[in-house]
Amino acid sequence: MAKASLIFKQINHGSKAWQEAVSLREKVLRIPLGSRFSTKELAEESEHLQIVAEQNSTICACAVLVPEGSQMKMQRVAVDENLRNKNIGSQLMQFCEGIARDKAYEMIYCHARDSAVRFYRKNNYREEGDYFDEDGIPHVKMIKSLN
Ligand SMILES: CC(C)(COP(=O)(O)OP(=O)(O)OC[C@H]1O[C@@H](n2cnc3c(N)ncnc32)[C@H](O)[C@@H]1OP(=O)(O)O)[C@@H](O)C(=O)NCCC(=O)NCCS
Repeated sequence: MAKASLIFKQINHGSKAWQEAVSLREKVLRIPLGSRFSTKELAEESEHLQIVAEQNSTICACAVLVPEGSQMKMQRVAVDENLRNKNIGSQLMQFCEGIARDKAYEMIYCHARDSAVRFYRKNNYREEGDYFDEDGIPHVKMIKSLN
């Protein structure tokens, strides 16, 4: 059987694909913490770039890019639990970085959960500053130059 192809793309806020991506990241990032994305949080995303990976017509990974001056913040990064350790997350990083670079952003950064720090380091992000609490989980800012 042919290997299922993986497609990375930008999607529209409010689209069916976006709703699927929200369900995925809610399952991965929020439900384990006992919370959901609020209506306000989701409405605010209309200003942001919505990125997904699709395999067999199903969204298996997603991220949100938030333009902030000369920097791009990457947030809400999630890969389907059944498809981890297959390099999908790293390819998603590269796709997001390519979009930011094409738009002439100089730097990309995220607030990394402590459990994801190794993953970001492998993708050449480096920690900046001290750990802080976000949603009850230790996080650290991690940055990567796009020059
Ligand atoms: C963090 C996350 C996005 C990584 O996604 P992923 O698709 O598993 O990432 P990759 O496969 O590119 O890399 C992950 C690991 O697999 C390893 N890996 C990469 N390709 C591999 C391969 N072909 N075979 C085996 N291992 C591989 C990497 O070395 C990395 O190892 P480590 O992080 O344990 O040191 C994913 O685990 C996830 O969704 N976690 C929960 C949500 C989360 O924490 N999001 C980030 C919030 S800041």
